Amino acid sequence: GCTCSIGPSILNADLSNLAAECEELVNAGCDYLHLDVMDGSFVPNLTFGHPVVKCLRPKLPGVFFEMHMMVVEPEKWIEPMADAGANMYTFHYEATDDPKECIRKIREAGMKAGMSINPPTQVDVLVPYVDLLDCVLIMTVHPGFGGQKFISDCMPKVEFLRNKYKSLDIGVDGGVGPNTIQECADAGANLIVSGSALIRSNNKKQSIHDMRAIVNS
Ligand code: DX5
Ligand code: ZN
Repeated sequence: GCTCSIGPSILNADLSNLAAECEELVNAGCDYLHLDVMDGSFVPNLTFGHPVVKCLRPKLPGVFFEMHMMVVEPEKWIEPMADAGANMYTFHYEATDDPKECIRKIREAGMKAGMSINPPTQVDVLVPYVDLLDCVLIMTVHPGFGGQKFISDCMPKVEFLRNKYKSLDIGVDGGVGPNTIQECADAGANLIVSGSALIRSNNKKQSIHDMRAIVNS
């Protein structure tokens, strides 16, 4: 199988102190950072874009930035994000009518390619793209906000993918924490995005260690 990686989402962190918040998570032993980009169109919320990534990049040398692009026209931001120093670009199947072209552009820009589907989207839409992707991201909340309740009904999608693709990197994103990590592990997820559960943890190191241990067990 695949090794477990923990990628905290900083959406609910103190964004006025983003570099320090990221440093704290890296020092606590996370494997990468999951940066949520929202445009107010694809999702009813607004966060930040490539200018912030450009400033963050030099402060976190060597840290893997996954951009979770909850935006319409994801093709538009590939170059700017690559120039800003992003390492992986995860766009939404629902946001483009040409996923293959989006993936090609992401790779051409030198980033890893991820594709995400929302809770209502059937998992088989991913099948034609899996062998072109570095990872898939199964949303376990309706995107737009941190701190929402985990949607267990999305676990069969993870199981379907794990049964079909033994070595595919499968991420889960939304409401993932100590109380929901077990079912993510049982379903076969290996990329664990956790936001509020980690941000509000009073021992981030322990929380990351515990979640990783459950997924790797
Ligand atoms: C939601 C974001 C998630 C979210 C995760 O649209 O894509 O990454 O911030 O945060 P929690 O773990 O609090 O749901
Ligand atoms: Zn996300």
